[in-house]
Amino acid sequence: MNACIRAVVRTAIAKGIEIYGIRNGYEGMIENHIFKMDTQSVANIIQYGGTILKTARSEEFRTPAGRAKAAANLIKHGIEGLVCIGGDGSYTGAKILYAEHGIKTIGCPGTIDNDLWGTDYTIGFDTAVNTALEAIDRIRDTADSHNRVFFIEVMGRHSGAIALSAGMAGGAEGIFIPERKTELEAIIAQFGKKKRKKAFSIFIIAEGDEQGNAHDISKKFQESFPGIDAKVSILGHIQRGGSPTANDRILATRLGSAAVIGLLEGRYNEATGIINHELHFTPFEEAIGKKKDVETELWNTNLLISC
Ligand code: F6P
Repeated sequence: MNACIRAVVRTAIAKGIEIYGIRNGYEGMIENHIFKMDTQSVANIIQYGGTILKTARSEEFRTPAGRAKAAANLIKHGIEGLVCIGGDGSYTGAKILYAEHGIKTIGCPGTIDNDLWGTDYTIGFDTAVNTALEAIDRIRDTADSHNRVFFIEVMGRHSGAIALSAGMAGGAEGIFIPERKTELEAIIAQFGKKKRKKAFSIFIIAEGDEQGNAHDISKKFQESFPGIDAKVSILGHIQRGGSPTANDRILATRLGSAAVIGLLEGRYNEATGIINHELHFTPFEEAIGKKKDVETELWNTNLLISC
């Protein structure tokens, strides 16, 4: 997100526009935590995870009175266009802000879940996958040495994107995701056949899988194979931090810059995205209504090679 903020600020300044930062998202908009930024405000941040502007959930922004306060603060600062980085919730807020107060907004897709409509990749996804992969590789060493079966849980309450990518890259024996029905009985039966040949195994579970979390799935395996040395590892929030990958920095820079150019060209109520390597703008209306599925070809390949 810092790379995106940096690109927004620097593109605006290059185009001769005054630029303000808002701390803590919509909550900060209501509390008037709005401050002028310049090129130096975003110096030396591209390599850091998180966001220098911070983020917050805002209950007050869900109310018309809260949104009226937020809009009044923007108007007070002479703000004519808004760039918001986030997902469905941020886009919905922006859409309502325009409908009620005429604030023109462009969104940049920011979530590690990579499930937003209108872009092939969201900001943060590549970094999260690579962080999970590094952990999987390390766990693989101990799994191998001790002949253990590891059930590694990655983030994705409603999305299996991280699990599928990190699982494939990490050579997982099975990947469990909420978007596809998990045939647990069949997977357990297959594991039984392989067990004689394989000393260790790695399974990757998205936290939102319909069969349960990594503990639940590990328990079901242990019920069928009481002798296995099963371990659960939950990667959790380490996936939401750390220095972003080159791909994420470049994606965030392209999208942040495009958001400013888009506003200048009269676009609003739209989200930036990259589809097939090209820049795209998708109406909020469409982006909010749809959830991107995992890639079918990727899923089918995973099924083929985990035999
Ligand atoms: O950023 C998206 C996500 O990582 C989901 O995959 C996960 O379920 C959720 O955030 C957890 O967020 P929080 O820890 O803020 O509740």
